[in-house]
Amino acid sequence: MSNVISRRDYLQMLAVSAGWAATRALVSGQEPKEGEGRLAAPKSLYERPPAHERRMQWWREAKFGMFIHWGLYSILGRGEWAMVMEDIPLAEYEQLAKQFNPRPNAAREWARLARQAGMKYMVMTTKHHDGFCLFDSKSTDYSAPKQAAGRDLVREYVEAVRAEGLRVGFYFSLMDWHSADWAVCQTDAAARQRFVDRVHAELHQLMTEYGKIDELWYDGAYPLDAEGWRSPEMNAMVFALQPDIVINNRSWMAGDFSTPEQSIEAAKGDWESCMTLNDHWGYGAADDNWKSPATLISNLVKCSQNAGNYLLNIGPKADGSVPEPSVRILQTVGHWLERNAPAIYGIKKADITYGDGVYFSRKGNEIYFYIHAWPGPSLTIGGIRELPKSARFLASGRAVKAQLNGTRLVFSELPATAPDDPVTVIVAEFASAPVQDSAAVRIVEPFLKLIHEQKAKGWS
Ligand code: GLC
Repeated sequence: MSNVISRRDYLQMLAVSAGWAATRALVSGQEPKEGEGRLAAPKSLYERPPAHERRMQWWREAKFGMFIHWGLYSILGRGEWAMVMEDIPLAEYEQLAKQFNPRPNAAREWARLARQAGMKYMVMTTKHHDGFCLFDSKSTDYSAPKQAAGRDLVREYVEAVRAEGLRVGFYFSLMDWHSADWAVCQTDAAARQRFVDRVHAELHQLMTEYGKIDELWYDGAYPLDAEGWRSPEMNAMVFALQPDIVINNRSWMAGDFSTPEQSIEAAKGDWESCMTLNDHWGYGAADDNWKSPATLISNLVKCSQNAGNYLLNIGPKADGSVPEPSVRILQTVGHWLERNAPAIYGIKKADITYGDGVYFSRKGNEIYFYIHAWPGPSLTIGGIRELPKSARFLASGRAVKAQLNGTRLVFSELPATAPDDPVTVIVAEFASAPVQDSAAVRIVEPFLKLIHEQKAKGWS
């Protein structure tokens, strides 16, 4: 099977799936009406799904979400790939299902933490690559309700998320190391048919039994391609059942947004950068390489000013408790956001780049200065030719004295120590958004351009 399918094959697939609008009608029992509200099928794997603009509205405003990796691997505490990385035989790994019995409603703690952190949505692993379902799958007994936990952990999660007024997201792994059919699905057509049918059935269940779902996060589309997973049909079903949902691009179809992982890369369309808090997705007991609150804030600024979202992961322990450093770090970010929310929501990239320990963003004619390294009584930014009309600390509203000294913008009479923690924000209003024209710009930019050109010629 090739990764790229022809338009004819694609349209055929859609016909097989009874078509987009027809599928919707099938599920709702209503005939789709012509014109407004009717979902037209995308014309290729690479095209945005229908009603993309409408469905993405809340998501574009949300900016910050919580990712949760939680399952049998949380017992081992060595990440969600432990089974494969350590060659744990299936029969041995399966035993973990007899131990996995988290305390009731652990998800409430996560949802509270997410809200306190300023996050607006959550995405939890309903099933990871190990194939263990946290929901009551009709297709397998390898699930939390049928094993030690004896209850539907996805239901607990959904209820907890809604109780905090947040949006509900489901992560779903297409790959399944537990399934014998999955293991041979690339070469055995009958096994593939059974396995992909099962995947569609599980998604159908997830899309019908838990009320309104806001985000679907496919992952691990291995070893099949879009044709193998019957992705157009799968996505058509998802949209038919959840017309407002947004979906990612990991089913070999464009989806609503792309998913840079562990990096922040401004992409053309909507994008969501997912990142770990330390170096693990699933609980890593020995991992203490935590990102600092200041790093998370600058990551959030980078995402926000480039029109992306930040999906930040926690890996709860098997009992559902969140590692203490994660709690502390996220609460610090949340408290900072309470005081500094305007410096995150609705910001754009500023035409100012160079400052020592200072980063920048813009909203209209206002410039936000994110001061990570507090300079003491004065702060100078080179290459600004216009005096701001006013400047103030964002958190306290206290005025900040600004002067123009040639092309140097100087904030003076600042306190000796940073007034906010971990990042102090000064917001300055200008008559028009300033463009930095400093010695740094004049030397660094051409230098970067030269490096780029030399690289293009083969220099490394
Ligand atoms: C990687 C990991 C996977 C994890 C995902 C989150 O693909 O392999 O385990 O769920 O990242 O984006």
